[in-house]
Amino acid sequence: MDHSERIKVMTTGNNLKDYEEAYRNFDWKEVEKVFSWYETGKVNAAYEAIDRHAESDRRDKIALYYSDANREEQYTFLEMKEKSNRFGNVLRKLGIKKGDRVFIFMPRSPELYFSFLGAIKIGAVVGPLFEAFMEAAVRDRLENSEAVALVTTPQLLERVPVKELPALKHIILVGETKEDLGEGYIDFHKEMEAASPELDIEWVDREDPMLIHYTSGSTGKPKGVLHVHNAMIQHYQTGKWVLDLQEDDIYWCTADPGWVTGTSYGIFAPWLNGVTNVIRGGRFSPDDWYHTLEKYGVTVWYSAPTAFRMLMGAGEEVAKKYDLSRVRHILSVGEPLNPEVVRWGLKVYGRRIHDNWWMTETGGILIANYPCMEIKPGSMGRPFPGIKAAILDDNGNELPPYQMGNLAIRTPWPSMMRAIWKNKAKYDEYFRIPGWYISGDSAYMDEDGYFWFQGRLDDVINTSGERIGPFEVESKLVEHPAVAEAGVIGKPDPVRGEIIKAFISLRAGYEPTEELKKEIYEFVKKGLAAHAAPREIEFKDKLPKTRSGKIMRRVLKAWELGLPTGDLSTMED
Ligand code: WTA
Repeated sequence: MDHSERIKVMTTGNNLKDYEEAYRNFDWKEVEKVFSWYETGKVNAAYEAIDRHAESDRRDKIALYYSDANREEQYTFLEMKEKSNRFGNVLRKLGIKKGDRVFIFMPRSPELYFSFLGAIKIGAVVGPLFEAFMEAAVRDRLENSEAVALVTTPQLLERVPVKELPALKHIILVGETKEDLGEGYIDFHKEMEAASPELDIEWVDREDPMLIHYTSGSTGKPKGVLHVHNAMIQHYQTGKWVLDLQEDDIYWCTADPGWVTGTSYGIFAPWLNGVTNVIRGGRFSPDDWYHTLEKYGVTVWYSAPTAFRMLMGAGEEVAKKYDLSRVRHILSVGEPLNPEVVRWGLKVYGRRIHDNWWMTETGGILIANYPCMEIKPGSMGRPFPGIKAAILDDNGNELPPYQMGNLAIRTPWPSMMRAIWKNKAKYDEYFRIPGWYISGDSAYMDEDGYFWFQGRLDDVINTSGERIGPFEVESKLVEHPAVAEAGVIGKPDPVRGEIIKAFISLRAGYEPTEELKKEIYEFVKKGLAAHAAPREIEFKDKLPKTRSGKIMRRVLKAWELGLPTGDLSTMED
């Protein structure tokens, strides 16, 4: 990486004027004063995000612009308040109470957001799932969380193995069903209409659970990362200083709420700051996205490297067809942002793309490039005020600049996860060095305190900004009748960051053909999720394994990249 390249200040009117000064003097306690617990000792994040504005001068301000191929709608803060209140009442009528898990499995739509907020208002713990998930993925998550209610669509219901989920009592369907499905099935629209727009909010403690996001680890089943209401402090303040949200902004975060970016920054940060939020349904296409920016006059745009690379791939001419002049601030998260993309953005959009770093587990942005700061393309930026980040060796010693090690954060911070659902051992692993959260990323810091990402220390694959645990894919692969064993790695890819590559040994009697590769790909796509399916498959007679029988992904990766395989002492012959 080139450490000398710098891109200077391009934006004016920032909320954060002087990073150094803020870093020296910042105190989270000051931020708390914005919210109701400062006076009442109780709080509810959905109230703070919506009702607080609905009860102020912002009541008729547009909170949500929603559109997709078939719908175009807008809702004021007051309307959002009433819709989410109604949904809260729908849940209450079903007997759902504080602490119960309510999952949402549906494409982006206004109903998704009403449900999300309404569930939080009654103190339930929400779990949003990607619509792309197939049956096995849905089952794992609903089973582990013991969700009692699910909001979904009649189409997606096919992928919910209801009979295998004893805890799941209520299914709320958004959309028409042909037949009456019987007990336990509820019509969203009918119930919403019947429900009152007034709701007794469940006032909770800051440390009460609010949200579960499942994310991938390198081994075993997905982990349910639990966040609490207190996270709002961080969402609010990073919204101010990293997203640079201001009263008249039109903000668009392209992420789906199935991903933490789509909740922390697709729901909380903009609405806690009382800002107009754009949600665009449907799939990515360069024309569609530029059209969305133009149509709503988006001023702040938060997306991901894979999308920026695809936009870059589509070429400058496509961008030039649209009026993007209202865009004043662009941000990126999810994987390393290539310096080339930053330079391209500067040329084509006339704006810097501001990289920032965080994780599902951290709940909010921890390291960022700020509008008031010089950008060093390729760097994730500097720690948010109130956050101490460091590079540690494996014994917990802080390393000097330019030495690579574990990217770690001093505990705690407001939006830090509070548990891995029903898995204390996993949770404790992150905090194995006292006083620190160990991210699992490797990085180094330069002499100006900028952090530079190097890679994952585990085997987690980051494809198009989504984390995939190799084990989950391998487990699915070996369910295919032809597959004896499978080892899965991330293979570097210019657009997707990484793609999933599977090394497979076949059961006797199966021929390694191209058709079989296709069949296996489809098998994972249908059984797990499209983004988890191996785009590349290589058949091997035998896979490298440790003596204890673990597949050595490290060796597969070295083969793939033509690198030395390192220490093979634990490998079986
Ligand atoms: C990676 C995303 C490089 C990293 C909000 C991290 C990044 C994982 C960056 C978390 C970045 C995220 N540069 N890598 N700016 N941001 N990552 O939980 O490996 O989906 O640990 O949360 O993505 O992914 P997650």
